[in-house]
Amino acid sequence: MTAPLRGAPGDAPHAGPARSRVLVLFAHPAFHRSRVHRAFLKAVQGLENVRVHDLYEAYPDFDVDVRREQQLLESHDVVVLQHPIYWYSTPALVKQWFDLVLELGWAYGAGGTALAGKRLLCAVSTGGRAGSYGPEGQNRLTLRELLAPVEQTARLCGFEFLEPYVVYGTHALSPLEIERAAAGYAERLASLRDGAER
Ligand SMILES: Cc1cc2nc3c(=O)[nH]c(=O)nc-3n(C[C@H](O)[C@H](O)[C@H](O)COP(=O)(O)O)c2cc1C
Repeated sequence: MTAPLRGAPGDAPHAGPARSRVLVLFAHPAFHRSRVHRAFLKAVQGLENVRVHDLYEAYPDFDVDVRREQQLLESHDVVVLQHPIYWYSTPALVKQWFDLVLELGWAYGAGGTALAGKRLLCAVSTGGRAGSYGPEGQNRLTLRELLAPVEQTARLCGFEFLEPYVVYGTHALSPLEIERAAAGYAERLASLRDGAER
């Protein structure tokens, strides 16, 4: 079932040369049950120069269109990977997307400079509380440590890896807390777009 917000968010025209173009690669395998990411999408909907690309909607069969994805990446300056944390990692389609889109000679290796100098932001949510991530917690590792494969993939491809935007403890969040987290997310994207954050 397609949820109401899916595919709708902002795909606004460019506002001017001073602004970076932001591409949100959104991946949620169960969007119909989402509270947090639904609010995130709503908050960034209509933000100028922010384009949301819903990977599970585009590729329900995991049949990623490599050329289309590469063209999208080439035409944006900031790439956001927005998804819930699933088993300490990305949802499966994000891994498939990495495996297919980040080609040798395009993204890395000899002549592979298509992504060099772009910035990458992970925008993720966890069911686990903040205190459960880290050496004292049940999950042992910090979220930044768990994101190491994504960070290193990004760095190998020449991205600048930004401080991730993380919302912890999603199951216990009130609607107001979710709304605040979503507003913070929209502010972060706007500041990246406007060059206020380096
Ligand atoms: C298959 C699956 C695996 C998950 N793995 C983790 C995990 O490793 N760590 C964690 O903190 N939460 C985990 N969660 C909880 C989700 O991250 C959480 O439900 C999500 O961030 C909430 O966002 P939403 O309201 O947009 O769905 C998992 C959930 C599912 C369904």
